[in-house]
Amino acid sequence: MNLIRDIDRGTPASAAEENVTLTIDGASITVPAGTSIMRAASLAGTDIPKLCATDNMKAFGSCRICLVEIEGRAGTPASCTTPVAEDMIVRTASERIDRLRKGVMELYLSDHPTPEDGTEMREMAEMIGVAQSRYLPIANHLGAPCDISNPYFDFDPAKCIVCSRCVRACDEVQGTFALTISGRGFGAHVSASQEEPFLSSECVSCGACVQACPTGSLQEKAVREIGLPETSKVTTCAYCGVGCTFKAEMKGEQVVRMVPWKLGKANRGHSCVKGRFAWGYATHKERILDPMIRDSVDQPWQKVSWEEAIAHTAAEFRRIQSKYGKSSVGGITSSRCTNEETFLVQKLVRAGFGNNNVDTCARVCHSPTGYGLKATFGTSAGTQDFDSVEACDVMMVIGANPTDGHPVFASRMKRRLRQGAKLIVVDPRRIDMVRTPHIEASYHLPLRPGTNVAVLTAMAHVIVTEGLTDEAFIRERCDLDEYREWAAFVAMPERSPEAMEAYTGVPAADLRGAARLYATGGNSAIYYGLGVTEHSQGTTTVMAIANLAMATGNIGRDGVGVNPLRGQNNVQGACDMGSFPHELSGYRHVSDPAARDMFEKLWGAPLDSKPGLRIPNMLDAAVDGLFKGLYVQGEDILQSDPNTRHVAAGLAAMECVVVHDLFLNETANYAHVFLPGSTFLEKDGTFTNAERRIQLIRKVMAPKNGYGDWEVTQLLANAMGLDWTYAHPSQIMDEIAAVTPTFSGVSFARLDELGSIQWPCNETAPEGTPIMHMDHFVRGKGKFVLTEYVATDEKIGPRFPLLLTTGRILSQYNVGAQTRRTANTVWHEEDRLEIHPHDAENRGIGEGDWVKLASRAGETTLRATITARVAPGVVYTTFHHPMTQANVVTTEYSDWATNCPEYKVTAVQVSPSNGPTEWQEAYEIQAMHSRRIAAAAEAAE
Ligand code: SF4
Ligand code: SF4
Ligand code: FES
Repeated sequence: MNLIRDIDRGTPASAAEENVTLTIDGASITVPAGTSIMRAASLAGTDIPKLCATDNMKAFGSCRICLVEIEGRAGTPASCTTPVAEDMIVRTASERIDRLRKGVMELYLSDHPTPEDGTEMREMAEMIGVAQSRYLPIANHLGAPCDISNPYFDFDPAKCIVCSRCVRACDEVQGTFALTISGRGFGAHVSASQEEPFLSSECVSCGACVQACPTGSLQEKAVREIGLPETSKVTTCAYCGVGCTFKAEMKGEQVVRMVPWKLGKANRGHSCVKGRFAWGYATHKERILDPMIRDSVDQPWQKVSWEEAIAHTAAEFRRIQSKYGKSSVGGITSSRCTNEETFLVQKLVRAGFGNNNVDTCARVCHSPTGYGLKATFGTSAGTQDFDSVEACDVMMVIGANPTDGHPVFASRMKRRLRQGAKLIVVDPRRIDMVRTPHIEASYHLPLRPGTNVAVLTAMAHVIVTEGLTDEAFIRERCDLDEYREWAAFVAMPERSPEAMEAYTGVPAADLRGAARLYATGGNSAIYYGLGVTEHSQGTTTVMAIANLAMATGNIGRDGVGVNPLRGQNNVQGACDMGSFPHELSGYRHVSDPAARDMFEKLWGAPLDSKPGLRIPNMLDAAVDGLFKGLYVQGEDILQSDPNTRHVAAGLAAMECVVVHDLFLNETANYAHVFLPGSTFLEKDGTFTNAERRIQLIRKVMAPKNGYGDWEVTQLLANAMGLDWTYAHPSQIMDEIAAVTPTFSGVSFARLDELGSIQWPCNETAPEGTPIMHMDHFVRGKGKFVLTEYVATDEKIGPRFPLLLTTGRILSQYNVGAQTRRTANTVWHEEDRLEIHPHDAENRGIGEGDWVKLASRAGETTLRATITARVAPGVVYTTFHHPMTQANVVTTEYSDWATNCPEYKVTAVQVSPSNGPTEWQEAYEIQAMHSRRIAAAAEAAE
């Protein structure tokens, strides 16, 4: 397959409803009013040469290559900046136009090295028919030094024609405003921040400027190192829940670059530094490609054949079950693997192990979303598509940091905010969106960690007591008795903002203002993240959000809704596929005989009607000697789950821990079998993003370990006595569709045809469902739930006077297993503790000092960053690096409904330190010892 080429019509489409008919080169064409001549010509099949124009940005009109003639008008206007008019007659080619374009191109080439293959500059020079310039300027820019500071792309000013496309991409598409054109005339040049190297500037390395540059002045280093790509396939990013689609551009088996796909409905041609550049982990030297086994974790690993590894694993699981009982083993599915792979792991557990001991990493992130939205609306998923943000008037962002966690969607949010939408931020930290170029939140409610329910219930109090509810919506769409009970509950004086201020720390006047804005500002949408779910009242908070949306009628149409921003690429899909111990795919409870019957007939195996163990219960049972074998696919529970010491104790108590992953992760330190995993580049399948959008990932290279992950699970299932015969993941999707009503219209062929599908997709919605609950809630009537604020048991006191909250940053992802093995580490070499200047000063802590972070669960050390982003009394850190072991300090408190850990509230003390704790030192020694591989170990001796 050759390179997939995007069509660029030069300027954005016009949204006007009225049409205009004109003639271009003798052909009549009708287009919406406001369309540029350049775009109209392109739609008519005539490409006008262009350099400064591209259709994802407003026309700029600087290069003068796109000149045309218009009958009855003097001169040769630029077709990119001239709108069409009724009965206009346009000529795109003539002797005069040809001469003028050649002249302009020659002037550009007079101060430009020979344009390189693969650049628009080269293409345009050829299109215009200019090979070289006749002009010899006295001065030129050819010797200007290259900026090679960024690890992924270079900036060569010699090739720059100052077209400003990069600057406009940074402004209009990314919304960072890091680039400007400095100087004037001959001295005009692109400058990052205040004339800084790209790396140290405000540039976030999203790649929008590189993609926009028509000359190769900004270009990926990989293109220089590997050469121009020869083939491409469209695939989906394997990092976050935005689900950006990319063209993986290849030279042979090497990825040259990942170019965001314009037709991708989640990202609309944009990207962030992770999806765009950070795929190098796929070929990192630490990737393990051979299966390995060992009898105990203090022995070195022994490389074995796939046959031996699979036979050994199956024998171990059989031995454990016959000795300790059917329920003594289980599995964990991965939110980074495909829907098909996840489906197979839960099928293996239910049909092969004969129990429901399957869980997923959503347990520690969005399980409260599933529970809370199912209870209130009837579906465990967000209500909108990302496009909906374009119609939003008020955005409320709670417990999410979109510019770091969901950067591509954050750019769309910021664009809408620049157009005039209003913003409310509810977050203990002053996240970037509170104030960023051309954006200022109307309200920032810096609540104390753990008080989300108090804040949201107080907002509901204002809305109800001030008569700001949408009575018509409530009457028609919601259960009225429940609503009345809820309204009386929230209206009580003790739930007023003034009464709640003592708990939340949020000034009552601000909270009242925010509530009024949300209720009366037009289309209001709530976007939330793990700052909502990872609490002891995570599920209650999700329900409080749903209450607000229903009370104000902000659900069931464009521009509104309840939108969980999912963390991992396929966390929605992992939940949809039946990864929870109590639910089959499509969220049917295992106790439902009809659902079970359908699966039993198809799978030819009896299914247990009782829910199985959740991850924390598996670990507890292991410590109690009842749970002995675990298959973990693509999840590092030792690093990602709370209370690391307890996780370690649980794993250490098991007799067969099987890690199926790319690297020897932290969990593998306690494993007896290692099955090498495959990357998203090496397999076919689907991911489902935060908007319920199912998208294909496509194999662009052969699996370096020999098998896609779905094949490994199939080998294991068959070794356990099952009889699976899947030849391709599309057959697994066919089975998913057959047993899952919300997926009944989904197939690989249909996904190929439509590009993507948002579930539910069935007979009534054959092309999927962008917005849910349009005419009625999936559960029938919307359910209001009383949301009593209950303070967490995790209390600050003299020993632990600060509250720790955790999160992630833009360049790193989750436990960092992938991003730490890319050049992204230049932006984040270590986890740091953010501490307010007052708290730092009180403790004698300076910028960059080592500090001890202690809680009642444990202690660790890391370095301090002093910043007013966090409020006094609150500290913050990330959990991307294993040596920090941030989860050594997080506690076992968890959400009342789902056991989602309370990562966001831990009472801690911070004090100066000289270096690692005993635990960290002991852990490092254990990890090094445990990672030995026999051949290497023998060679070293
Ligand atoms: S770097 Fe590229 S996109 Fe930016 S102004 Fe120069 S030529 Fe245009
Ligand atoms: S926003 Fe998320 S899905 Fe998109 S490129 Fe970045 S990490 Fe990948
Ligand atoms: S493309 Fe129209 S002026 Fe540059």
